[in-house]
Amino acid sequence: MTTPHLMTLDALDTGALDALLRRIAELDAAAKDGRLPASLAGRTVANLFYEPSTRTRASFELAARRLGAEVLNLDIDRSSALKGESLLDTIRTLHAMRIEFFIVRHGGHGLLASTAAALAGARLALISAGEGRDGHPTQALIDLATLRERFGGLDGLDIAIVGDLSHSRVAHSVIPPLCALGARVRVAGPRALMPEADAFPQASRHDDLASALDGARAVMALRVQRERIEEAGAPSDADYFADWGLTEERLARHAPEAVVLHPGPFNRGVEIDSEVADGPRSLILRQVALGVPVRMAVLERAAGALGDG
Ligand code: CP
Repeated sequence: MTTPHLMTLDALDTGALDALLRRIAELDAAAKDGRLPASLAGRTVANLFYEPSTRTRASFELAARRLGAEVLNLDIDRSSALKGESLLDTIRTLHAMRIEFFIVRHGGHGLLASTAAALAGARLALISAGEGRDGHPTQALIDLATLRERFGGLDGLDIAIVGDLSHSRVAHSVIPPLCALGARVRVAGPRALMPEADAFPQASRHDDLASALDGARAVMALRVQRERIEEAGAPSDADYFADWGLTEERLARHAPEAVVLHPGPFNRGVEIDSEVADGPRSLILRQVALGVPVRMAVLERAAGALGDG
């Protein structure tokens, strides 16, 4: 039986990933043609964001509404979380009001999995909107969908993922399925922002930007996550840009055909130059646009696993 929860993409084999990516493309086309199904009519989705978000929160809300669901955006900063109520008790409380879908962004480690275990048997779905360093599965689906749309498939695609890999939940979520679908992934970043050597066994590691970029068809820049960095030796913004910033000159020299992705939000003049972010190589706004059908497909999958409301 398919679990209604989505906390990582680990449980999805290549067949399930492929089916999800095809459904994302169908929903994107249906939205453009004005023929979206009301597949969530009569259902209610709660957005529980314990950390800031623009793209993920907005696109889950739009996805749910456009498929006919009702949406509750709980204002966490004015909620009983400030009186000490746990995520588990907040979900139990809202589930008593017949909310079935819980979209959760949280800084904790493993909190969604332990919450799901405590709620075993309850007819509800927990969907990660980014959790600690653990992962951000729907952002990974956006990245896969964007690359699949651009290249028709991922088999044999050389992709460089550059930046703060140590703190990136996107990197943890996207590298395994990229490799499972046949992409060849290189990772690179400043030494202080790279995880242990065995962190991404499927990827090749590079010590400098030029060798990571060399001949890549796609480059994904990752945000320097100042709010999470505790390690000594992290470069200043200026030093980061000097050594690792994506500029048109560097791309033209080392990866002239590459498209550029970034999960956002991005720091102009730190991990990416405006000329690249706003230029013809950039797929950043396409990633944002695909966020809505991605979240539609994920909500539909959860609804299918829960059965009729
Ligand atoms: N990519 C991403 O998760 O962006 P937000 O923090 O704006 O949701």
